[in-house]
Amino acid sequence: MAAPLPLAPDSADPTFTELLAARPALSMHAHDGLLMDEVPLARIAAEFGTPTWVYSAGTLRRRYRALKAALDAAGLDASIHYATKANDNQAVLRVLRAEGAGADIVSAGELRATMAAGIPAGVTVFSGVGKTPGEIRFALEAGIFQINAESAEEIEVISAIAAGLGLRAPVSLRVNPDVDARTHAKITTGRAENKFGIAFEDAHALYARMAALPGIRPIGIATHIGSQITDGMSAYRAAYARLAEMVRGLRAHGLPVERVDCGGGLGIPYRDEIAPTPEALAGAIKATLGGLGVPVMLEPGRWLVGPAGVLLSAVVLQKQGAARRFLVLDAAMNDLVRPAMYEAWHGILPVSPLAHVAPLSPADVVGPVCESGDTFAKGRVLPAMAPGDLVAFLDAGAYGAVMSSTYNARPLAAEVLVDGARAALVRVRQTHEDLLAHQRLPEWFTP
Ligand code: LLP
Repeated sequence: MAAPLPLAPDSADPTFTELLAARPALSMHAHDGLLMDEVPLARIAAEFGTPTWVYSAGTLRRRYRALKAALDAAGLDASIHYATKANDNQAVLRVLRAEGAGADIVSAGELRATMAAGIPAGVTVFSGVGKTPGEIRFALEAGIFQINAESAEEIEVISAIAAGLGLRAPVSLRVNPDVDARTHAKITTGRAENKFGIAFEDAHALYARMAALPGIRPIGIATHIGSQITDGMSAYRAAYARLAEMVRGLRAHGLPVERVDCGGGLGIPYRDEIAPTPEALAGAIKATLGGLGVPVMLEPGRWLVGPAGVLLSAVVLQKQGAARRFLVLDAAMNDLVRPAMYEAWHGILPVSPLAHVAPLSPADVVGPVCESGDTFAKGRVLPAMAPGDLVAFLDAGAYGAVMSSTYNARPLAAEVLVDGARAALVRVRQTHEDLLAHQRLPEWFTP
C-alpha cells in the first residue's frame, strides 16, 4: 500500500498560485477575491452563510465531456454510470444526466435519488455487498439495467425474488481480481482480503450457476479495484486482463457475456499527485478488453465531481497555542471527514485577494468539534486570518457533503450550484429544529 497522504507540513506543498493554475473553475480576482467560474465565493458566503458546499456546473460538464471524448477517441463502445455515492445532490445528478450519464447506485436511497433526478433505472447499475431483499425487489420493479452480484448467497436471493416477480434479473458477477490498486487501505477493494466481489477462481462456476437459475439472466462481469487510483495504469491493466481472460473462458463454455463493467476509481490530484488521465484509462481498457467485442461500462465518481466542488468556510478565530498557531474554522470533521478518516490532503485557499499577498506562516487548520481528529491540516502555510475571513477547501465535490454527519449537533451545511455567473441554493442548510424534529420521547417517559 502506498503511504497515505501526509497531514504533516511539507515544503513540497503546492503554492496558492499552483493550486489555482491546476483548477480551471477557480480564479483570483483582484477585487472580488476567489471566484468559482464567474461567482465570487465571498458573495456566496454573504448570501448563504458558511459552511457551504459550492459546485461548478461548468466543471461537471467539462469533465464528463472529457471522459466521454477519451472513451470515444479510443474507439470504445462505452457507457458512463456515475457513482452516485460521490455526490448525490439532485442538481449535480441532473447536470450529469443532461450530459448523458447513467448511474451506479448502492442503495434504494440512491436509486430513489437518481430516479428523482430523471436518470431511469434502465441506465442504472446496482452494486454493493449487502443489498437487502427489499432493495433488490425495488430495483427489479423499477427496471434496473444491471445488478452486480457480489456473492453466491446473493445470487440465490436475487433469483428467488426475480422469479417471484416473473422476471429474469439482469445480473453481472462482480469479480475480485486480487490486484493491489496501491491506494489508501480504507478505499482499496480489489484485494482477496477485501469484502468485495467473488474470488476469481470461483467466478466461472458461479456464472454457470447463474445461467441455470430461473430468475437470472447472466449478462457479464464487473470489477472495481479501489478508489483514488493515482499509481498509473498497471493495476487497472492487470485487473482488466484477468476479466478478459475470464470472458474468453466463459464464452468457450458457451456462456454468453454481453458486457463488462470496468468500475470506477480514477484518481485526481489533491496535492501534487500525478493522476492518470481518462485517455490512459481508455487506452488500458482498449488494450485489454478491446478485442472482445463487448460494450464496456465505467462507474466513475470522484473523477467527475471531486474537482467541481469546494467547501467554503469562515474563520471563527485564530488562536495562538503554546507551540503553534491554530485557525479554528466553522467547518469541521462532521462536514468534511476525509482528512480525519483517510489522512487526506485538501488544498485550502483564502478567499480574500489580500490574503494572497500577505506573509505566510504555518498553522494547524481545525474545526470546532471536540476531538483532536477534527484537524483538516497541520502546519499548513497560510496568512494570518481574522474572524469571518473565508477559506475554500478544494476538490471537495466528491465524498464531501455525502459523508457529512450531524456530530456535535451541527446541522448539515448548505449546498450551492454555480453555473456561469449564476449561483443558487441546491440544498437548504439544516436547522436546529430539523435536528430535533425526528426525535421522540416515549409516552411512558416520566423524568
Ligand atoms: N463503483 C463501485 C462499486 C464503488 O465502490 C465505487 C466507490 C465507485 C464505483 C466509485 O469510485 P470513484 O470513481 O469515486 O473512485 N469515501 C472515499 C471513497 C470511497 C469509494 C467507495 N467506492 C474517499 O473519500 O476517498
